[in-house]
Amino acid sequence: MKIITTDNYKDMSQLGAEILRDVIKGKPNATLGLATGSTVLGTYAQLCKMYSDGDISFADVKTVNLDEYVGLDGSNEQSYAYYMRTNLFNCVDIDMSNTHIPRGDALDLASECKRYDSLLASLPRDVQLLGLGSNGHIAFNEPGSPFDARTRVVRLEDSTVYDNSRLFTRVEDVPKMAITMGIADIMSAKQVLLLASGLNKAQAVKAMVHGQVCVNCPASILQRHPNVIVVLDKQAASLL
Ligand code: GLP
Repeated sequence: MKIITTDNYKDMSQLGAEILRDVIKGKPNATLGLATGSTVLGTYAQLCKMYSDGDISFADVKTVNLDEYVGLDGSNEQSYAYYMRTNLFNCVDIDMSNTHIPRGDALDLASECKRYDSLLASLPRDVQLLGLGSNGHIAFNEPGSPFDARTRVVRLEDSTVYDNSRLFTRVEDVPKMAITMGIADIMSAKQVLLLASGLNKAQAVKAMVHGQVCVNCPASILQRHPNVIVVLDKQAASLL
């Protein structure tokens, strides 16, 4: 695990974008595993800028997202599909048919999980971008998630519903269920790039980097991945 501590959110975001840019420049038809949440917003903004500056093209890039709330369709402003269009896809030259996000509005969620896992098998990820939950979750793999888990429907912890409620009008509006790639799916990416920012992530970062590899901190499994880069700001790194 390579740990890089930057001065602030802006520098973390810039470095995250540069790492992804290098993957795309090295392989213009790369498959990127993408994440949502506040942490990666700055990185997406930088990627949009790199595209508008003519530095990179997404024309042949393929993407697969980590997760989606159950019950929200892509037109819902709180859906991760909407987030991805707003914060990245609409700003670059990506072919939308090359972008993939679990369907939270699928009528048959079990089939949707199977479909997504087949898709992941056909699209090996060159890099998987990750944020980190304050409870150590990656994607929506909450503490206790088995390390061999594949794409499935999960119930969110109260702490995750609370953390994510800042983006909703009321905490009651936050969906309690999600479809998420499993930890085994995340571990199958060739490279993992995890970003974390802010004091509220410091404890989870410490457990991820120095704690026992244990299901209580799902991100700790990344200690066993051969190619992980963790980019932090000072606050997130403050307990290392
Ligand atoms: C969310 C998402 C994760 C994300 C994490 C951190 O619940 N499912 O994929 O990485 O929590 O979110 P944020 O960056 O907003 O702190």
